[in-house]
This record gives sequence, C-alpha cells and structure tokens, in this order.
Amino acid sequence: MTNANPGLEGVVVADTAVSDVDGERGHLVIAGADVEELARTASFEEAAARVLAAGAAGASAQAAPFAERLGRARAEAWELLPRLGDALDHADGMDALRTALAHLRPGPVWGGAVSADLAGDVDTAIGAIGAGPVLVAAWSRRRAGQAPIAPDPALGHAADYLRMTTGQAPMPAAAAAMNAYLVTVIDHAMSASTFTARVIASTGSDLLSAVVGAIGALKGPLHGGAPGPVLDMLDAIGRPEEAERWLLAELAAGRRIMGMGHRVYRVRDPRAAVLEEAARPLSSDRLALARAVETAASKILRERKPDRPLAANVEFYTAVLLDAVGLPRDQFSPTFAISRVAGWSAHVLEQRRTGRLIRPSSHYTGPRPS
Ligand code: COA
Repeated sequence: MTNANPGLEGVVVADTAVSDVDGERGHLVIAGADVEELARTASFEEAAARVLAAGAAGASAQAAPFAERLGRARAEAWELLPRLGDALDHADGMDALRTALAHLRPGPVWGGAVSADLAGDVDTAIGAIGAGPVLVAAWSRRRAGQAPIAPDPALGHAADYLRMTTGQAPMPAAAAAMNAYLVTVIDHAMSASTFTARVIASTGSDLLSAVVGAIGALKGPLHGGAPGPVLDMLDAIGRPEEAERWLLAELAAGRRIMGMGHRVYRVRDPRAAVLEEAARPLSSDRLALARAVETAASKILRERKPDRPLAANVEFYTAVLLDAVGLPRDQFSPTFAISRVAGWSAHVLEQRRTGRLIRPSSHYTGPRPS
C-alpha cells in the first residue's frame, strides 16, 4: 500500500467529545459550546473544568471547587520552584516549561483494564494546569533578572498569570483579554500536539508524560511557535502602506507569511475573529496595522495560490493580544501551552477510557534484502 496521504489529512484517529473543528465553514465547538460564546462568557477555570469533564465523560469537578483546586495547584507549584534545578535557565520558554513541568508527580500509569476511575489523572491534570502559569511567569521574570512572584490562589487564573509576570495587578481589560485568550486556545481537536498526547496516553503511560511530549510538539513554528514571529513581522512592516511591499519581498525570499494558512481551515480561523475582538479594548494602532497586513497578505496569497485558500490563523491576533496585555514575545508560545495543557489532559482522559493503543503504519521505501 502506498502512502497517498502523507499529511494524514482527514484520517480519523479518535472519537472525541472535547472539541470539533469545521474547517470548511470556520466553526470551532469546545465541549458543546461555540468558541465565540465560550470566550465571551466563561472563565478559564470554567472552560478547563468543562473540557476535562468532556474528556472524562462527566467524571470531573464542578467549576467552583475546580477554581479552588486550580488556585491550590498554583500554590503547590510555587513550593516546587526551589527544587527545579536549572530548568528555568533555558533561553526558550517552551524548553523551560517542558523541563520544569516534568518535575511534577507523573500520576498513575494504566492499570491494564479500561477504568472509569480517573480521579488520579484529574488530580495530575489540575496540578499541571495550575503549575503552567507559575513556571512560565517565573521563567520570564528570571530572564529579565527579576525575582519570581508568588501566586495568589484567590485570583482568577488569567489575572494571576499576568500579575505573576508583570508584578502588578492587571487592569480589568487586560485580565479579561488574557482570560479570553486562554479560553479560546484551550482545545482544537486533533492538532499535532494533541495527537502526540493521545499517542503517549494510548501506550498506558502517565498523563504528565503525555503533556510534556505535547509541549515538544507545540514548540515548532508550524504549530504553536508562530505568534512571536507574527509580531516581528508587524514590527518590520511598521506602517499599513508598507505591508504589500514587505510581504512580496518575504515571499520572493522563499519564506512563508507567519500567521497565515492552516492545515484544516479553508476560511479565516474563527479564533482570529475572537482574539481580534478581545484585543480591541487594549490595542488600537497595532490592531489597525494587523488588519491591514492581514488584508494585504490575504490578497497576495489569493493571487499566488488561487486553489489553496490561505487566511489568517489563530496566531495572527494572538500576537496582537498577548503584546497588548504586556507579555514579552518570547512568552507567547509558552502562554499558548499553559492553556492547551487543559485540552491535552482532557484528551488523555478520553484516550484512557478507550484502553486502545494508537499504532499507525508506515510505507517502507528502502531496499529489500536480495
Ligand atoms: N505563506 C505563504 N505560503 C503558504 C503559507 C503561508 N503562510 N501557508 C501555506 N503556503 C503555501 C505553501 O508554500 C504551499 O505552496 P506550494 O504548494 O507551492 O508548495 C501551499 O500553500 C500549501 O501549503 P501546505 O504546506 O501544504 O499547507 P499545510 O497545510 O501543510 O500548512 C501551515 C499549514 C499552518 C503549516 C502553513 O500554512 C504555514 O506554514 N503557515 C505559516 C506558519 C503559521 O502561521 N503557523 C501557525 C499555524 S496555527
């Protein structure tokens, strides 16, 4: 059998109740809610409780005790900081998060039977979701030569993350935008990193190993590593009237336009609109520039690739929003990761309930022994 589908597009590898992407129409449903609705109305805590409950088929916690547990998990991660060795010395925030998170307790391995008792995994998941912002904020401050700031378990997850990063109580608009971001990117069906997490979970390995492996998959620029480069692009372009010239030169140099195109979406990524809206109260000039660059990029790519719709993806307005809330650009990808830990965990819980190994096949192209 030859491999006619090298990208595995369209190959269904799991049933899931966690999220669904309609790439033709540009719809994203997260645990039963449209992403637009969820980002407008839910706290990150509510969204995380919701995806975990979807993954565990209801065996998870309610949002209120969940918020308390998440606050406690942030406090526990803070206690871990002195025991992380040089994990937070990495120059790359994804490396720091991957290494630091690996210090958490791994949680149970699969006992050999399909089990509905996922309590140990849910505990590990909440520990990892809570630890993410503490570790990334501490890494970011360390890079800036500043002491880490302890979490405040009574604060919302998004507001506490910003406070631990900047050292100041965030403005309500910034906390709201941060929350909308974390909710928006919490899960996205069978992305490369989610597939990674599910493959690891499918072997019966522990939840933390799956999350750590998924961080490695998310790090690449074709997946979660694009928002920093998008901001670099906006800086390099500078003024809307420069957009077309700069983009044409970029394509002529054989480079891709960051923040444009998607493996699944054939229309604009619905998360781009959600994040553009969420960033509006904070950003005016940069948002206007981003809009102009997106318009120019869409036009040029439409002319170049009439058969392959290439529209703005989530990373385009992630860059604008995370910059507007005051995060440095090397913290963008780790910020994506600390939200997606919840989605990965939900998929691990779901995979666990199947008890089935994911083992695809390959097409051998090497010589045969004569
Ligand atoms: N800029 C310029 N050209 C692009 C492009 C972009 N952002 N994205 C895709 N293309 C072109 C490819 O060069 C290819 O052209 P070719 O057929 O002449 O070789 C064609 O469109 C199809 O691209 P392909 O690589 O098959 O698409 P994909 O589904 O594998 O890639 C992405 C999806 C996201 C990896 C890709 O669009 C990309 O690299 N985008 C930029 C990085 C980014 O924003 N990543 C974040 C993703 S959320």
